[in-house]
Amino acid sequence: MALSPVVLGVESSCDETGFGIVSEGKLLGQGLASSASKHAEFGGVVPEIAARAHLDAVVPTLQIALQDAGVEPKDITHVAATSGPGLATAVHVGLAAAKSIAWALDVPLYGVHHLAGHAAADTLEHGPLPEHSIILIVSGGHTSILEVRDLVRDPIVHLGDTLDDAAGEAFDKVSRLLGLGYPGGPAISKAALEGDREAFRFPRAMLRAGDHPYTFSFSGVKTAVARTVEQIERTGAAVPVADIAASFEEAVVDVLVTKAVKACQEKKLSTLVMVGGVAANRHLRKKAQEQCDKLGIELRVPPPSLCTDNGAMIAAVGDLLVRSGAEPSGLGIAADPSAVLHGAQLPVPA
Ligand code: KG4
Ligand code: ZN
Repeated sequence: MALSPVVLGVESSCDETGFGIVSEGKLLGQGLASSASKHAEFGGVVPEIAARAHLDAVVPTLQIALQDAGVEPKDITHVAATSGPGLATAVHVGLAAAKSIAWALDVPLYGVHHLAGHAAADTLEHGPLPEHSIILIVSGGHTSILEVRDLVRDPIVHLGDTLDDAAGEAFDKVSRLLGLGYPGGPAISKAALEGDREAFRFPRAMLRAGDHPYTFSFSGVKTAVARTVEQIERTGAAVPVADIAASFEEAVVDVLVTKAVKACQEKKLSTLVMVGGVAANRHLRKKAQEQCDKLGIELRVPPPSLCTDNGAMIAAVGDLLVRSGAEPSGLGIAADPSAVLHGAQLPVPA
């Protein structure tokens, strides 16, 4: 009988340096370092600062993952790394580390699409994905409704994407506007707890009859918040931060849940998988659960710590690729910072 694969996953596409170790769908251990606090004063991720932080963090974070998993480097049978999309300089650091590890251990290397990692994160908590499902990806850089069959074997079908800002990006920008800092999602979510979700009626874009059912647009809601803040400031009144945060969160969640649930109904699919950093949002999780319960849809959402970027999710894709018999990408794999999600493994340049 063949030995079980022990796959090391490497993630460095934004401000998290992550290593995870997965074997046959089980997470053995992981290490995670974040440079988020170093970007706070800029209101968003500064690529050069992120890349330097990855360089500092790679070896200690790998050591933490190995220790957490109780695994020696020699036990690793395969390496998988995010090769895109992401901040180019940030992806380069993790990919170079992954190449060095794969070369030193003489094991195969797989270049993985970061967003496939977000989807695979759910398998670590809830087991294999169903044969056919709708996946809502909501992260800092992407917002998409996907129709997915076998995550690593089949092409991934985009039912709709965002025309402009991603949902997480909207959270980050509105947070900056309200002086709540970076990352914006958790900050808005916390402020919203004290606010009235109906205090302001912010626009729900792309929900009118005739609009594309699965396409998103979040720049309008961000602009509406900016106008509201400006108008209130002009009067000299205090900006009701909690009410604005709560009403903004309500508007975004409303659109995400409405469209994702509609996709399940129209495609007659009974499972919705919600992944990516914004899927950590408590209000989104609650509203999605309520709608799915009403309509008999099974909702799968990873625990919040597996929604935001981490190495375990990349190891999970690697593990699925290895077990499906995929060809390794090899040490020639290049970073593709703007890779579109068509499949879990990124093609090797000719
Ligand atoms: O998936 P992720 O960790 O990185 C990307 O691939 O982009 O997502 C990061 C995004 C950020 O925009 C952050 O503000 C958002 O996820 N986020 C949240 C929450 N936690 C993180 N948004 C809303 N509510 C949260 N609790
Ligand atoms: Zn991500």
